[in-house]
Order: sequence, then structure tokens, then C-alpha cells
Amino acid sequence: MRSQADALMRLRRGGATAGKMFGTRTVVVTSGKGGVGKTNIAANLAIALQRFKKHVMLVDTDLSLANVDVLLGLHPRHNLKNVIVGDKRLDEIVLDGPGGIKVVPASSGADELAVLAPWQRRRLADSFAAYETDIDIAIVDTASGLSPDIINFVLAANEAIIVTTPDPMAMTDAYAMIKTIAIRTGLYDPENPPDFRQPVRRSPIDIKIFVNLARSSAEAQAAADRIRNVSRKFLRLEVDDFGFLLTDRNVQAAARRQEPFVLKHPQGDAARSIESLAGRVSANNRIGKATRGLGCYFDRVTDINDASAGIAQPESSQENPMNMLR
Ligand SMILES: Nc1ncnc2c1ncn2[C@@H]1O[C@H](COP(=O)(O)OP(=O)(O)O)[C@@H](O)[C@H]1O
Ligand SMILES: [Mg+2]
Repeated sequence: MRSQADALMRLRRGGATAGKMFGTRTVVVTSGKGGVGKTNIAANLAIALQRFKKHVMLVDTDLSLANVDVLLGLHPRHNLKNVIVGDKRLDEIVLDGPGGIKVVPASSGADELAVLAPWQRRRLADSFAAYETDIDIAIVDTASGLSPDIINFVLAANEAIIVTTPDPMAMTDAYAMIKTIAIRTGLYDPENPPDFRQPVRRSPIDIKIFVNLARSSAEAQAAADRIRNVSRKFLRLEVDDFGFLLTDRNVQAAARRQEPFVLKHPQGDAARSIESLAGRVSANNRIGKATRGLGCYFDRVTDINDASAGIAQPESSQENPMNMLR
């Protein structure tokens, strides 16, 4: 780790590091619906990004059965909670994952972050800020859904990769996630929806769609197109298509062996799909302006928790625009 004092100083100056305009980029991998492949995609993407000469930290915020450490065969003894309560430093809980990534094992997630005392919040932000100079990209794996604690991890990030499958339910939930981001960033008011004369804008959190568990590239393309079109039409919001991953036996087999498929089957279709995603993430120059760096990311996650109290969540989609565009 480079100088902690240096990193802290930069954080206080706004997080901009020389030559690295935003410090660590924070990329959240999220979805409306569960079981769409977020953890598999986040972990393999993190590893694939190393090939693009990126130093990557994989942050697990979902303590589910199939979480990051299970998938990668890691056995963490401590987690973020130990850092929050003050009995471990962040560098004592960070694990060396496959392919050279750093892994932050899950604590029980944002509900814990919601109740932090100011000193704990500062400790968390400062701990991550110390990694600012070493880590180019942080990939944050989340739980599924639109609950405020999950949304906070999304709203604090520079970029959000929203994973869906071609299943209509998953697509509806992906759209609901995009709509929530639009509402929470002030781009969309359900009481006063924009009409077609209003320009299509981008969200301050750069939104990407990634389609998993498709049976063909055509099916994946159609799913991504539909979400993009519906977002443009009803939210006047631009979201990008960042590719797809087909249903693939190698993915499941590698998960069972607790080995990332990008390392186990590097020549396979699944690895190539994730490498192409990594290429897009690596080359993305539309990085959202939500945060400046890793320390600020956690500052914002915990801050938004305060701010989100009392903010209305979008109504569950009675009108289902995914159907309307069919
Ligand atoms: N492209 C794929 N092909 C086959 N199985 C997949 C694929 N993506 C994910 N899976 C399987 O789907 C299940 C859910 O994946 P997971 O990454 O845990 O989803 P999430 O994190 O969204 O809940 C796992 O059993 C995983 O092995
Ligand atoms: Mg998961």
C-alpha cells in the first residue's frame, strides 16, 4: 500500500489524484431480480479486468449463500464488520483473491452501515481511502432488489452494471431499478413524467445493461434493446448495452468447483464474454460523477442511508412498460 497519509490528503482535497481524475472508479453490479448471475459476473469481471492492467478490488456487500468468498473458494475469518467496530484494520480483512484481485468479504451489508456512528463512518471511509492510489477499479457486488440499503450502494457508485436475464420478470425488475435511479437522481418525477419532446439524458450514475443466461446472442440483444428503448421512451434516460453472457455449463461447473471460469476455461465462450465486458468497463470514458474515489464511495453509502429516510420509492410497476413495447 502506498502512503496512507497521501491518500487521506487527496481524499480531503476531493479525491482527485494526479493523472487519475476520479481516484478509484466504483462499479456496482446489481439487479432487480435475484439469481440472475451478479456474483458470478462481478467476480469474473474483477479478475478479467486485471488483464487490462487494472488493479481491482472486489467488494462483497451481500452475505447470501452463494456470495463472493464461496464462489472463489476463499475462507475469510473477518469482514467489514470487524473494521466498523474497530477490532481489525481494513488491510487485515482484505483477502488476496485469484488472478491478483483484492477481495473485501461481506458483512451483512448496508443495513449495518445504516446505523454507524460518525466516527465509525469516518473510519470506514478513511480505511478505503487508503487504497485509493493502489486500486483503479472497485467492483461492488450487491444483493438483489430495490430496498433502500441496496439502492444506496448503487447511488454512491460511478457506474452501475444492471444484470438481467431475457426473462420478462427480470427485465421488468431491471427497468424498475433504472427507474429508481432516475427518481433518486432527480431525473424523473413520477408525478410529472416527461414527454417525448424532452431530450434523452444520462444519469449521473452511468448505467449499463448486461444480459445473462440468454440462449442466443439474438435473444440477449433483443432484451437489452427493449430495456434501452423503454428507458428512453418513458424515462427519457439513456442506458448503454454492455453485452451478454449465454447460459453456459462451464459457468455452473466452475462455480461448483469454486474456481472462476475466466481462469478455469479461459478460451471458452463465457470467458470471452466477460473479457469483452471487461474491455468495455476498462475503456468506459463516461464514468459517472457520483463520487470521487473509494473513500468517498463509502462516505456516500453511509450518508445516503441518512438521506434516504422518508424518500418515496417508486410504485411497483402497475403500468408495465416492458409489455407496452412488445
Ligand atoms: N451464464 C450462466 N450459465 C449458467 N449458469 C449460470 C450463469 N450465470 C449464473 N449461473 C448460475 O445461476 C445461479 C445464480 O448465480 P449468482 O451469480 O449467484 O446470481 P446472483 O448473484 O444474481 O444471485 C448460480 O447457480 C450460477 O452458477
Ligand atoms: Mg449474488
